[in-house]
Amino acid sequence: MTTILATLTFGLILATSAINPKNNACPKFNQYPLATLNPKCYVNPDVFSDVVQVVTRNGYNVKTHSVVTDDGYILTLFEIWGKFKNESKNFTVFLQHGLLVHSGVWVITGRRSLAFYLADLGYKVWLGNIRGTLYSQKHVNLTVNDPKYWNFTLDTVAAKDIKTQLRFVAKTSGLKIHYIGYSMGTTIGLMFLASSGQEDTKSLQSASLFAPVAYLNNIIALQLIETPGYLFTKMLTLLNITGLFYQEKLIHRVLVSVCKRIPNVCFELLIEGIFGKSTHFSSTDLLLYFGYWPGGVSVNQIQHYLQLIKSRKFQKFDYGPTENLKEYGTENPPTYNLSRIKLPVCLFYGENDAFYKKENLERLYNELGSSQKCKYPIPDQTRDYDHVDFLFANSIRTDLYPILTETLADVETK
Ligand SMILES: *[C@@H]1O[C@H](CO)[C@@H](O)[C@H](O)[C@H]1NC(C)=O
Ligand SMILES: *[C@@H]1O[C@H](CO)[C@@H](O)[C@H](O)[C@H]1NC(C)=O
Ligand SMILES: *[C@@H]1O[C@H](CO)[C@@H](O)[C@H](O)[C@H]1NC(C)=O
Ligand SMILES: *[C@@H]1O[C@H](CO)[C@@H](O)[C@H](O)[C@H]1NC(C)=O
Ligand SMILES: *[C@@H]1O[C@H](CO)[C@@H](O)[C@H](O)[C@H]1NC(C)=O
Ligand SMILES: *[C@@H]1O[C@H](CO)[C@@H](O)[C@H](O)[C@H]1NC(C)=O
Repeated sequence: MTTILATLTFGLILATSAINPKNNACPKFNQYPLATLNPKCYVNPDVFSDVVQVVTRNGYNVKTHSVVTDDGYILTLFEIWGKFKNESKNFTVFLQHGLLVHSGVWVITGRRSLAFYLADLGYKVWLGNIRGTLYSQKHVNLTVNDPKYWNFTLDTVAAKDIKTQLRFVAKTSGLKIHYIGYSMGTTIGLMFLASSGQEDTKSLQSASLFAPVAYLNNIIALQLIETPGYLFTKMLTLLNITGLFYQEKLIHRVLVSVCKRIPNVCFELLIEGIFGKSTHFSSTDLLLYFGYWPGGVSVNQIQHYLQLIKSRKFQKFDYGPTENLKEYGTENPPTYNLSRIKLPVCLFYGENDAFYKKENLERLYNELGSSQKCKYPIPDQTRDYDHVDFLFANSIRTDLYPILTETLADVETK
């Protein structure tokens, strides 16, 4: 199977290698196939390169740390700090990526990258990488080829990875932490906060949630994929396939080499088709995007999201009545009690986001137990963000970051 895949891939790369061999970025999709001949296209060195290289190339400092969770997963954290010592702040920011990507998304967009923006303001910036994604695929006993490696749900990631990473950042930096999550980074952030005691949350100063995902009710597109999605994951489980997309580097090579030939199809199908209509995505980012997406994920994580859609609850993984009894002591999985969250929380959402629905956002906001909370549509006037815009929008430095840093400053003075 792997051999066939590798041969196919190799063939594809060979067949397409003459086209835009340097993976140039172009201002228009239709310029991609002939990028080499077009003076408006240019080489973006950050396509495919790793976090340490990108950070260094942009002139920031970076240190790589490893932590081990109590169930044996070895996670990589990146610590980034800036050039200006005079502006140092007494807070750290922890950035948690979403599903199907890794922490690279916080640094690959050059000047638009959130990690660099915050480092310039004097924050120590830490990037988390959850189990199964490119930088966190090691385990003390298992390999990613072992079906057991992928036996985890969103609950596990929240309870183990988020907890372990935050503890490490708090201990190493000695500073209070602003949690910033994107997409699944918000789901597992909320799960962690709603189920943790004082001991685990006392190192946190606030949580900022970009494109938050908790309740997924009444979203027609999601309801349509729920049943086929469930059957698909069931089939994978029967085939003993428990993890997907974890041969990230190979998949990205293939996608980049395909997408430079058919850029419009890739954009419409794999970006807009999944995440919502975007008026902010720049054509120049196309190959950059597919140099990082998709990434390793467990079938249980996907199934967990499908269960959230179906159950209309923000709840733990449903193993079925018998297994639930063993796991939770009840036949139904327990829900997460969001009113237990007391930390200041701010939600940043886009009304073009495929996972956004006003009633769900309001419900999440209202259920939070925080006495200090806020919510902002991004941007505040027109041309609402979709899901991917929270990472890639061209105007992100003016649409999102100023309002974010204002809310951070707000909770720092109290
Ligand atoms: C790894 O394997 C050793 C030896 O079998 C075992 O003692 C240990 O508990 C395992 N650790 C984890 C995290 O599974
Ligand atoms: C900090 O130093 C940098 C570089 O010397 C300078 O550009 C920036 O304005 C300084 N910031 C403050 C608040 O003094
Ligand atoms: C950070 O904390 C140190 C020690 O508590 C203090 O001296 C310094 O003024 C603080 N810096 C800022 C920017 O608040
Ligand atoms: C997977 O994890 C669940 C819950 O932690 C556990 O009950 C089950 O035995 C595990 N399955 C395997 C194959 O390790
Ligand atoms: C799934 O894989 C595990 C580990 O390789 C193996 O022990 C198990 O028997 C397999 N199950 C099936 C149904 O093939
Ligand atoms: C949720 O937590 C709050 C306290 O934070 C408690 O008063 C309430 O009873 C809990 N709700 C449920 C359904 O457990």
